[in-house]
Amino acid sequence: MTDAVRTLISKAMADVPDVQPAEAFAPSNIALSKYWGKRDKARNLPLNSSISISLGDLGSHTSVALSPTDKDEVTLDGETLDPDSAFAARTLGFVDMFRGDKHLPLLVQTRNTIPTAAGLASSASGFAALTQALCAAFDLSLSGTDMSRIARLGSGSATRSLWHGFVKWSKGEAEDGSDSHGIKLDHRWDNLRIAIIPVDKGIKPQSSRDGMNHSARTSPLFPTWPAQAEKDCAFIETAILERNFDALGPRVEANALAMHATMIAARPPLAYLTEKSWSVLANLWNARDNGLSAFATMDAGPNVKLVFEENSTSDVLSVFPEAQVISPFSDHAQAPS
Ligand code: DP6
Repeated sequence: MTDAVRTLISKAMADVPDVQPAEAFAPSNIALSKYWGKRDKARNLPLNSSISISLGDLGSHTSVALSPTDKDEVTLDGETLDPDSAFAARTLGFVDMFRGDKHLPLLVQTRNTIPTAAGLASSASGFAALTQALCAAFDLSLSGTDMSRIARLGSGSATRSLWHGFVKWSKGEAEDGSDSHGIKLDHRWDNLRIAIIPVDKGIKPQSSRDGMNHSARTSPLFPTWPAQAEKDCAFIETAILERNFDALGPRVEANALAMHATMIAARPPLAYLTEKSWSVLANLWNARDNGLSAFATMDAGPNVKLVFEENSTSDVLSVFPEAQVISPFSDHAQAPS
């Protein structure tokens, strides 16, 4: 199989250097226009383009070093994982793209500043940080675009976590996936805010990967999704470029609800949103009837995220006192750029 990512790594790895201890941070991201469905599972290529906003200092810190023992070791938030656990197996499978069949036992440590697997996109920041740490550990000097292509193989949404701010994942056309990567939109929106309304920090019942494949395979609503999602993505990109919140907000919410509709119509149904998520939405819609300008988006988990502008912050907090408010363009001290 011709695969742009594997060719890229093997070219850069012509002389395998020693592994240097390395560490990287990548921000989590929330899709304003969602990726849901693959046209190529092996290369992890999407059916439609998507656009995200990063979450400042919320993300993953990942370090890579030679293992002090003769075995691979994977830790998550300070805890050593069973190598057969889903997280460790996915991490080590990704590491294998770099080390091939060489005997290089590694210690990979990840610390998330966002709850893992609760639909808050920790796999996005996790694979983006892991890609950067591995490139540094193996002394590969690759561009952000190339690292975004590599991160995509870990998790599609990770392709958008190489940068802060707005990032578009252009679905691309090439069969080998070479034109399917993140593109940082050179556009700030300083008074844009995201609020996380925590609903449940537990592990989600089904991974987003399984959920999207199940929706694509069985949902009678799925066939219309990719074309609509592509339109939403273009519309949202224009709203960002024009800094037009009245256009952005409603389309962000409509796009997320359309994605969840494909899952609810799947057979059997798939519901990441719980009773509590729906009650947050009901409160939001009620507050909107009374003048609040905030819109919701939800991923493969029960938590609800709100998008609004700075002048609505106190109104959002009076309806949702538990909200964690993020300023995507100022809440970060760390690289990436
Ligand atoms: C609902 O990127 O986790 O968050 O590529 O299979 O690893 P895989 O899926 P993943 O899916 C993210 C789905 C989403 C929407 C989005 O982030 O665009």
